[in-house]
Amino acid sequence: MSFNFDESIDRRHSDSDKWRKYEGTDVIPLWVADTDFFSPPAVIEALHERVAHGVFGYGLPPQELIDIFIKRMSDLYQWEIKPEWLVFLPSVVSGLNLSLRALTNQEQSSIAPHPIYPQFMKAALFADRDQISAPIKLKGQRWVMDLDCIDNQCSGNEKLLLLCNPHNPGGTVYTREELMEQLTFAQQHELYVCSDEIHCDLILEKGLKHIPFATLNEDAAQRSVTLMAPSKTFNIAGLGASIAIIPNAQLRSRYIQTGAGIVPHVDLLAFVAATAAYQHGQPWLEAQIDYLRANRDLVMERINAMPGLKMMPLEATYLAWIDASALPVDNAHRFFEEAGVGLSPGRDFGNEKFVRLNFGCRRELLEEALTRMDNAIATL
Ligand SMILES: Cc1ncc(COP(=O)(O)O)c(C=O)c1O
Repeated sequence: MSFNFDESIDRRHSDSDKWRKYEGTDVIPLWVADTDFFSPPAVIEALHERVAHGVFGYGLPPQELIDIFIKRMSDLYQWEIKPEWLVFLPSVVSGLNLSLRALTNQEQSSIAPHPIYPQFMKAALFADRDQISAPIKLKGQRWVMDLDCIDNQCSGNEKLLLLCNPHNPGGTVYTREELMEQLTFAQQHELYVCSDEIHCDLILEKGLKHIPFATLNEDAAQRSVTLMAPSKTFNIAGLGASIAIIPNAQLRSRYIQTGAGIVPHVDLLAFVAATAAYQHGQPWLEAQIDYLRANRDLVMERINAMPGLKMMPLEATYLAWIDASALPVDNAHRFFEEAGVGLSPGRDFGNEKFVRLNFGCRRELLEEALTRMDNAIATL
């Protein structure tokens, strides 16, 4: 079966967060992290079928989803997980916030990579806890977390290490050695680890493989909360079905208690979409990866040919992290927005000299956006 990712789908009147921001303008939205593609046909069919049933009372996690997810972890990562380790959540962001509140107290702090997906920082802010930033630095052409350099900032009050693998922004797929260094750091400082692995299915670089932090060894498993979801993988982020995997029973019970009565149940249509996606979505996912890889190559080539812009090879995600520090403008995000391209401001992730470009869209639109960026730079 072939899938057409070049199809133009009008999202302007669909209450899309990404598209509504620029409603009534000509700006091409390449910011918030969803794609402009149809979800896998099997997901759309399953939703139609469930809607036709017509009764939408309270739901429970489908046994089918539990079975499929467990098999997926075993097939992909040789990770043998037990059904009771799974905590279903309406969003990974809820999972991050729960980790902060369940695994630290008011006097304890967390450590998070920097730059990072903004909700990592907000989770500490919302919980009113201190957070130490571990810089993401270039090692060769890869963005990796430097934990050595924060050793002297640690006071002994740290309790939680937040990881993002693959990393957003920067797209790094951490190697086993790098993960082992993170584990050693967690052991030395007696930290729990919350590993956000939402982008784990979107590895674009051939030959690389995702390794869940919790699979490193039993010690890693016992100190960890792993967050995964089909939302980015199959473009069902608006439906919100996410999974926390927590092998340690004590941590799991604290985690569940912290969210009780506050974090809502997962929407029953989200369960339907997640089940169909994991069950039947693999051929679609493989085609999407090929399409995104070609988009990435195009973005790499065009961006690195633009004076003042630079990006490193991106191993995973559809989110290009672009260094605009050599561009002679005060605010690169505003500059490109005025030129008709809506990127994410690097400031939100912790570096105002950067912008983030979401290339999860049809190629023709991407080419038009890149041409607009090129033309705008030519006027400087
Ligand atoms: C690393 C990371 N975690 C979490 C999320 C959001 O997850 P959710 O929509 O399930 O809350 C995103 C979305 O961009 C992300 O990049």
